[in-house]
Amino acid sequence: MTEPSQPVLSIRHAHKRFGAIHALQDVSLDAWPGEVLALLGDNGAGKSTLVKCISGLHALDEGEIHLHGRPVTLASPTAARAAGIETVYQDLALFDNLSPAQNFYAGRELSYPAWLPRPLRFLDKAAMRKTAAEVIDRLQVRLPHPDAPVAMMSGGQRQAIAVARATVFARNIVLLDEPTAALGLREARKVLELIARLRAEGNAVILITHNMDHVTELADRAVVLRQGRKVGDLKPDQSSRQDLVSLIVGGEA
Ligand SMILES: Nc1ncnc2c1ncn2[C@@H]1O[C@H](COP(=O)(O)OP(=O)(O)OP(=O)(O)O)[C@@H](O)[C@H]1O
Ligand SMILES: [Mg+2]
Repeated sequence: MTEPSQPVLSIRHAHKRFGAIHALQDVSLDAWPGEVLALLGDNGAGKSTLVKCISGLHALDEGEIHLHGRPVTLASPTAARAAGIETVYQDLALFDNLSPAQNFYAGRELSYPAWLPRPLRFLDKAAMRKTAAEVIDRLQVRLPHPDAPVAMMSGGQRQAIAVARATVFARNIVLLDEPTAALGLREARKVLELIARLRAEGNAVILITHNMDHVTELADRAVVLRQGRKVGDLKPDQSSRQDLVSLIVGGEA
């Protein structure tokens, strides 16, 4: 593969405030195709806020987001998705009353025949169910009933469904906010494999995790946030692990 010449995603001087809380303070970062970028930091450091600004859920107060070198406004999650940004949120944005297949395709249903205008087409329920089942199967997550609403599923099962959904639709950038936090060992392993595959397919993957083993095993680079500021950008490996931990906790380690 030729070396990519520009980042797929650039954040420039991002600021986000919630009332008196300055959740992001002049944060800049680049994400490159075929790279897993770990986004690290203690609770409340601003990681999820940054993810939500990239995925169109929050607007930045100041600063810019560039995709492939061009400034963009991601005014809604739909706009971000249309720009090729898939997100697995920490607080698991699945629709409780829908089945996994319906959750996969909510807002982007498959339909036929293609020559009819969208509102007149039939939903291709069989195709949607089949794709969802195949991908969930690949994750080797055992679901009690594949067609049951996700409200009946455990936190880990729901998390696996959310990750599976992102892998189907990823085209560019995948944001994963603590995707293994609720998972058992076996399921977490599967998710790590999926992340490696997303990278191999050329996506820029931004992974938020508190698991330093996962960081040293999988991440090509790590950016550390502390109290809304970027305090580090380094290559994580066994030798830099202690440095990373110190950056995260602010020299208290
Ligand atoms: N919608 C909101 N309204 C008000 N304050 C918010 C909101 N979202 C986040 N914050 C505040 O912004 C700061 C950063 O929160 P954020 O969720 O980004 O942290 P985080 O790094 O993801 O932490 P964690 O590891 O616990 O998930 C916190 O002080 C939090 O209380
Ligand atoms: Mg968070």
